[in-house]
Amino acid sequence: MLDNYLEAAVEIAQEAGKILVEELSRPLEIRYKGDEVDLVTQADKRSERLIVERLTKYFPDHAISAEEGTGHESAAASEFRWHVDPLDGTTNFAHGYPCFSVSIALAQRDTLLAATVFNPFYNELFAAARSEGATFNGKKIHVSEVAALSASLLCTGFPVRNRKASPNLQYYGDFTQRSHGVRRDGSAALDLASVAAGRFDGFWEFGLQRWDIAAGVLLIEEAGGKVSDFEGNPYQLGGPVILATNGLIHEEMRATALEISRRARSLRE
Ligand code: IPD
Ligand code: CA
Ligand code: CA
Repeated sequence: MLDNYLEAAVEIAQEAGKILVEELSRPLEIRYKGDEVDLVTQADKRSERLIVERLTKYFPDHAISAEEGTGHESAAASEFRWHVDPLDGTTNFAHGYPCFSVSIALAQRDTLLAATVFNPFYNELFAAARSEGATFNGKKIHVSEVAALSASLLCTGFPVRNRKASPNLQYYGDFTQRSHGVRRDGSAALDLASVAAGRFDGFWEFGLQRWDIAAGVLLIEEAGGKVSDFEGNPYQLGGPVILATNGLIHEEMRATALEISRRARSLRE
């Protein structure tokens, strides 16, 4: 059954990806979701419509949480839930920067079972099923072997809402000085997939939603990496902060993050 779930997720992500590429060459119809940089385009909506329709057809008993709000609870009060980001990286998309993705994951209660992240512009498909490993365009992937923060390439992201309240600039500055650098690519799902594939050694971000990270978390776990909060507790979907690494630099990143938090707190007091 696990293979059926993953096969369906991959098929649907690829179809949704076609819509995104098609929409990329059309004049943009941007709406602002309230706050100034929280954009939503026609592409987000068309992609979500296809994904929700198709998942509902294949798995009518499953619940769907989708970012643009067209998901649904299942009539059968199912323990299965799909987490869907129909376009992760909308700001990049709206500017024609081809770093965006479709992210689809299935969880059974709190256990992630199947996941895919797809960048349709570069045709890069990441996929994972629980206990079956993670792949990139069909080939098995593994996290990197970089064992020191000082030799690592990191990634993070910044929220589109309440930007001034985000504590992340402090962390961004510190981690930049202690590593080979910190990238800010603008699609959390792809950032996590890149940790799984060994392109980045670590990632952290505050305030992400379940649909941003559910697929990426399973990819990293299945590629041999580690995901937690800053205290080292196993990451709970929807938790306020995520730290995801190759495992080898996890403790060093965690200790550094706690030191930054303490310093920021003492400056405020
Ligand atoms: C955003 C991206 C970005 C992250 C933001 C998310 P969206 O998702 O994942 O990388 O930094 O916090 O909101 O709005 O493009 O789906
Ligand atoms: Ca997102
Ligand atoms: Ca989105």
